[in-house]
Amino acid sequence: MAVKSQMKITPTLSFAALAFALVLPAINSPAEITRVRESLDADWRFTKGDPAEGVTNLNYAAARAWLLPTQNAFTTNAPAARPAENFGGDVSFAQAGFDDSGWRKLNLPHDFGIEGPFEQALPGETGKLPWFGVAWYRKHFDLPAQDAGKQIYFDVDGAMAYATVWINGHCVGGWPYGYASWRVDLTPFLKFGGANTVAIRLDNPKDSSRWYPGGGIYRNVWLTKTAPVHVGQWGTYVTTPKVSEDSAIISLRTSVDNNSAAEVEVKVATEIFELKTDGTKAKKILHIPAPGAAPEVGGIKIAAGATTDAWQTLMILKPKLWGLEHPNRYVAVTTIAQGGKVLDVYETPFGIRTIQFTADNGFLLNGERVRLNGVCDHADLGALGSAINTRALERQLEILRGMGGNAIRTSHNPPAPELLDLCDKMGFVVMDETFDCWRQRKKPNDYHLIYDDWHEADTRMLVRRDRNHPCVILWSIGNEISEQGNTNRFYIAHDLADIVHAEDPTRGVTAACNNLNAGYNGFQKIVDVFGYNYKPFEYGKFRAANPAIPLFGSETASTISSRGEYFFPVSDDKSKGLSDFQMSSYDLYAPRWATTPDAEFAGQDENPFVAGEFVWTGFDYIGEPTPYNSDLSNLNNYSNPEDKARAEKELAAIGKIRTPSRSSYFGIIDLAGFPKDRYYLYQAHWRPDFPMAHILPHWNWPGREGEITPVHVYTSGDEAELFLNGQSLGRKKKAQFEYRLRWDEVKYAPGELKVVAYKNGKPWATDVMRTTGVAAELTLKADRTKIAADGKDLSFMTVTVADAKGQLVPRSKNHIQFEIEGPGEIVAVNNGDATSFESFQAKERNAYNGLALVIVRANQPGKITLKAHADGLKDATTGITAQP
Ligand code: GAL
Repeated sequence: MAVKSQMKITPTLSFAALAFALVLPAINSPAEITRVRESLDADWRFTKGDPAEGVTNLNYAAARAWLLPTQNAFTTNAPAARPAENFGGDVSFAQAGFDDSGWRKLNLPHDFGIEGPFEQALPGETGKLPWFGVAWYRKHFDLPAQDAGKQIYFDVDGAMAYATVWINGHCVGGWPYGYASWRVDLTPFLKFGGANTVAIRLDNPKDSSRWYPGGGIYRNVWLTKTAPVHVGQWGTYVTTPKVSEDSAIISLRTSVDNNSAAEVEVKVATEIFELKTDGTKAKKILHIPAPGAAPEVGGIKIAAGATTDAWQTLMILKPKLWGLEHPNRYVAVTTIAQGGKVLDVYETPFGIRTIQFTADNGFLLNGERVRLNGVCDHADLGALGSAINTRALERQLEILRGMGGNAIRTSHNPPAPELLDLCDKMGFVVMDETFDCWRQRKKPNDYHLIYDDWHEADTRMLVRRDRNHPCVILWSIGNEISEQGNTNRFYIAHDLADIVHAEDPTRGVTAACNNLNAGYNGFQKIVDVFGYNYKPFEYGKFRAANPAIPLFGSETASTISSRGEYFFPVSDDKSKGLSDFQMSSYDLYAPRWATTPDAEFAGQDENPFVAGEFVWTGFDYIGEPTPYNSDLSNLNNYSNPEDKARAEKELAAIGKIRTPSRSSYFGIIDLAGFPKDRYYLYQAHWRPDFPMAHILPHWNWPGREGEITPVHVYTSGDEAELFLNGQSLGRKKKAQFEYRLRWDEVKYAPGELKVVAYKNGKPWATDVMRTTGVAAELTLKADRTKIAADGKDLSFMTVTVADAKGQLVPRSKNHIQFEIEGPGEIVAVNNGDATSFESFQAKERNAYNGLALVIVRANQPGKITLKAHADGLKDATTGITAQP
């Protein structure tokens, strides 16, 4: 809605009367509920490229006037009107009658980039995959005649990028930023009681991203049907201004849109329920009006075409707080009624918790210190590409949880809504980020081109969409933004921070700063919480200069490693460790701007006021294969001109080689989801009470007999003794600010390495690494043996190349073929090798250092059997059940 009037609402009942009305009247039966949200993911038609006939220019400059009005509800500018002329009305692909039967049929979410093929000539920086260019999607759907009179919206969680939408041949708007969620109103051009066609054109420009963004309608899409008078898009805002053990005050603002032709008068009422972990409602909560406020407000007048906000304040007793271990949630069910007739029922899940960033004592959740053990992650899901999949995200969070991870940074853009739902449900906190650049570019075609037109709408969109999630604890207005070093441009940061504060005054604003000066040049005062990228050595100085500003490591480590690769001699020089386009997994290597995990741990522990860190990255991602990056994008990491010049020279030299790398080495966990050694270094530090020890490297080094082969141990203990074939190699203790135990002089002899770890002098954990026999068999293990037969749920199956005793054989690269029987299909395969050019969408895969991954889904209920075969090895078979 374009026009917004803010009306102060007078409660219909006095406080005295309400004090006795402990429970609100029951909400109306489902039959009366007019709001319907239907998935529109199924049965789309897809093609790449524009129609062959020369037609209208459809690029952003031409479409701009038709797209800008889509952001009307998200700017304080005067509402823009769409030009009367029908944009692209002469384009065949946009027209309702166009015959698209020859186009490919598919279901959303869809990422066309991940389908490949890989091309060596494409930049490794974005994964050497074809994610760019123009693409069209079309969908036919029927609307029943009884929907006439309703508002019908097309809601898009994300489309990459520069989307323009036509319904039955009429352009109804669109949104350029590929990470934004947005809506267009289809109502004026729909056929009720007939067939309708929605057509979307996407144009994903080359040179627009520093990593693999994917291409296509890669998130879910919905048809939302409401009465003309209804709660606006993300139209509720729940806050909990007062929380104690005894009670919580819940403040709810509801924005009601009136799309009808006349003024209306409505009543807004809200009930609160507990939410179960599966998202269904549990028991209704008795709530009482907070002193002086009303749980139900009437007499709300909304002019035709206007929006009015209604405020309600409720109180509940003995609130169950949302926290990391017990992520308790509630749902506010808000009813809009006119003269006794229910017009809309809107559900807002929320949590009750307090958050605070302090300068002295880091981050407090419900009053207690929680160290942010966070990771940054891009949005791709490895072999699945950017196409959103809830189970794949959930699996990522489960793996991170095992390591002690408790926080996610959505680098460097708005995430899929499903990620926040999962974080709410599973108990992770989130730093929710907007942009990777503002007006100054990082890539020729990146966001800077539309910053002026869209930054306000994209920022308001993010905050409005995500502010009811208890998991969100910080809003980041940008990553390594060039303007952080230019005081003349600070107005941009002020502007963005003001927008965020206006939309949500309950959380702080931050930015991820790589420029050392940003901590001192005034930029640090614009944000509420200051984030340094890769500056563990600066924390003390920052605090001395800024004693009142909370600080955290917004991006840390950037250690690089390949799972299962170890190169000798082992050097502590962080620029070493390169070989065969892989990175040694001793976890000592990092680009110049970056550090080892240990250095960041020390920086945090020496400066306990720092709130914690977000490691770059949790999972490997497609693109940015530093240091085998020939496109010089790494130069963005330098603010000091001398460092930059030196790096440019070095990278130009590497660039003369054709690097086969297409995915990153930064992940603690590889692209297939297999933990690297580093996982256990973080686990040792982040889960100090979990008894564990981990030995590296593997112990299969034929030809290295008698040669120095250092052994490192990660343990949550404080001391450990290492044995080689029963002989003690000494007991070592971690010194202060030391996070690993090292036996750097070990001479290799085949056999058994064993570590016994101690904590406070008592045995704590052990680990054994053995020289294995030759590869003899495959083993196959599904992460879940029961999945839903809904075409979306996934089983992730790990294939291991094992010796006769079932031990993983390091460095095995056997070619594995898969056969599937039953109502299942292989969605993708992977192995975590950053240099592999094998298609992700195949029924075969080489193992990489002993492991491969098969991702299976089911469209029908039944038993599914997967068989893995490699020449010369015993086959493996496993079964799962797909449930209705
Ligand atoms: C940072 C940047 C990230 C990524 C990382 C690699 O400077 O914010 O996006 O490029 O470097 O180390």
